[in-house]
Amino acid sequence: MTVLYKANMVRGAEWATFFAERAPHLPFRLWPDIGDPADIRYLVAWVPPDDIATTFPNLELVFSVGAGVDQFDATKVPAHIPLVRMLEPGIAETMVEYVTMAVLALHRDLLHFIDQQKQQLWREIRIKPAKRRRVGIMGLGQLGQAVLERLKAFGFPLLGWNRSPRDIEGVTCYAGPDTLPDFLAQSDILVCLLPLTDETRGILNADLFARLPHGASLVNVGRGPHLVEADFLAALDSGALSGAVLDVADPEPLTEGHPFWSHPRILLTPHNASMTTPDTAVDYVLDVIDRHRRGEELPGRVDRSRGY
Ligand code: GLV
Repeated sequence: MTVLYKANMVRGAEWATFFAERAPHLPFRLWPDIGDPADIRYLVAWVPPDDIATTFPNLELVFSVGAGVDQFDATKVPAHIPLVRMLEPGIAETMVEYVTMAVLALHRDLLHFIDQQKQQLWREIRIKPAKRRRVGIMGLGQLGQAVLERLKAFGFPLLGWNRSPRDIEGVTCYAGPDTLPDFLAQSDILVCLLPLTDETRGILNADLFARLPHGASLVNVGRGPHLVEADFLAALDSGALSGAVLDVADPEPLTEGHPFWSHPRILLTPHNASMTTPDTAVDYVLDVIDRHRRGEELPGRVDRSRGY
């Protein structure tokens, strides 16, 4: 009955401490010190080892250490073993902070001020009231919903778009591809919080940018491959987009000399919007293990056909 962790090692040491405190009966190992592979029942990984099925014959659950699972080759996880995404509150809390920061930065013209400061320009910009800046969130899962709750405080008109219908108080919600144009036409600041799947790859493309209000801005905290780079740069050049905050790129790290590094209308961070917090993640993993033992439904269980 052992848990094996294979991800960031510094945080892994913290996981080990919390496991020892909260589940002393449950042995916890840090990759590559796997011990007897037959003892491993639970694997927590960012990218799992290639040959999971043969290496760990008694594996019962596989956790993605992140909220996303696109970095997993799910075909390598045998179909009878549940794959579970990290729905722990620490990821949501840090994502809420980042998206709030990004939305406020775009709303309050921070990219322009950074540019002006470099040029020693002291020039005011007319402030637009929040109630006239519409914010649209693509992806209304745990993270999207948490972000919307926090954004309510600022008075932005809020919209959400999701694959399946959602009902969120104070948010105009749209569901499915047919409703995307209506949603986009009202999103002055568009936030991508979608999972990366075959359906969403390249969704941030020329067609989408053309449907946004002219001069809209973008926050991408999904995955780099959601964005079609050439279309995006063209939209910035034409003014269709006025600015963007990007936390993800393709590939990561972004290549040397890539135009995103120095573009004055892009604020770039190194896939740092949110982070799994060992303290709360350990509680989440222990809870899912308990539920699994009791034969209950597992929160965060990935639907393999949907891809998230
Ligand atoms: C990070 O991007 C994650 O999936 O948690």
